Amino acid sequence: MAIYEDFGEEFIADRLTSAEQNEEEREAELSLRPDTLADFTGQVSVKEQLRVAIDAAKMRGEALEHVLLFGPPGLGKTTLSQIIANEMGTNIQITSGPAIEKQGDLVALLTNLGQGDILFIDEIHRLPKTLVETLYSAMEDKVIDIFLGKGPSARSIRMQLKSFTLIGATTRAGQLTQPLRARFGHILRLELYTPEELSIIVKRSAGILGIEIDEDGALEIASRSRGTPRIANRLLKRVRDYAQIKGDGRIDLDITRYALDKLDIDELGLDNIDRRMLSTIIKFYGGGPVGMETLAATIGEEAITLEDVYEPYLLQIGFISRTPRGRCCTEYAYRHLGIPFKKEEKATGQISAFDGEDK
Ligand SMILES: Nc1ncnc2c1ncn2[C@@H]1O[C@H](COP(=O)(O)OP(=O)(O)OP(=O)(O)O)[C@@H](O)[C@H]1O
Ligand SMILES: [Mg+2]
Repeated sequence: MAIYEDFGEEFIADRLTSAEQNEEEREAELSLRPDTLADFTGQVSVKEQLRVAIDAAKMRGEALEHVLLFGPPGLGKTTLSQIIANEMGTNIQITSGPAIEKQGDLVALLTNLGQGDILFIDEIHRLPKTLVETLYSAMEDKVIDIFLGKGPSARSIRMQLKSFTLIGATTRAGQLTQPLRARFGHILRLELYTPEELSIIVKRSAGILGIEIDEDGALEIASRSRGTPRIANRLLKRVRDYAQIKGDGRIDLDITRYALDKLDIDELGLDNIDRRMLSTIIKFYGGGPVGMETLAATIGEEAITLEDVYEPYLLQIGFISRTPRGRCCTEYAYRHLGIPFKKEEKATGQISAFDGEDK
């Protein structure tokens, strides 16, 4: 995905546990994407809110209010936006923040929307600042003002838009301006999935791909997928390869363990970057606290990658805590790495994972 292209997209996309999408997946994903809310596993509260909002909007014959979806990569933001379009029975126009460069691009997108249509802007936090202003009036008053010329002879034309729904997706809601956030009627945060939910997704995907898999195998893949459906689907395909070469093609617990161990993904789904992150905090910074920038520099990764892609899962499983002074490793992390935990005075006053999203 474009957000990481500035610093080695290929590298990230090629990693097995990356939540980023790779080429092969772009195609397969079309078939694996659920297209109704009922078929979308997990995210119970998000689904409930959308169900009510969609049914109510349809009853009134109105466009759905603008929706902001946020959360770590690979949790289903794009999928959900397509589901919303299906359920509303409307057209969806898909674009992304960095793809919209000039005001003309945005104007063309907006003026082409029909009554009730959906405009999906992925990575909306990367929309150029000057264009965000255009969105304000488009979202609120369904008009855009286009300025022509400069100086005393400048004039503006106002264009009326049809009622439309903007769906914005972002991994960093904290980077949106307050006025932009305020214009979304629904702000929905996607959470990492539980192993049980991911196991349902794995079995569903296996069914679609014609792969035979048993309960234990599915749960094992699910448990090592860092709470992320995209990773679960990817591991399923890698394990299938092993099952075909080493066994009879069926996926069970043994072949899953064998394959994932070979792929260097541990029982919790951690790969070597996760492990390096944890062991660096422990060995170089006495278990923390250490600032994200410092940590990133020490292990030679980008802070934004560690924060968006790695940290959410490490927080979720309680291996890392965020404090005002930086990140700390918890006793669980020590135990997982087999390093003795020394009880000493640690910084307290933890803050929740998303409070200070952007530090
Ligand atoms: N709840 C779900 N049930 C079943 N499959 C899911 C679910 N959520 C996501 N998936 C699958 O996971 C993959 C990734 O989903 P999607 O592309 O929507 O993620 P995303 O949040 O848009 O990611 P990104 O931030 O990288 O754009 C898709 O193949 C989709 O089929
Ligand atoms: Mg997406």
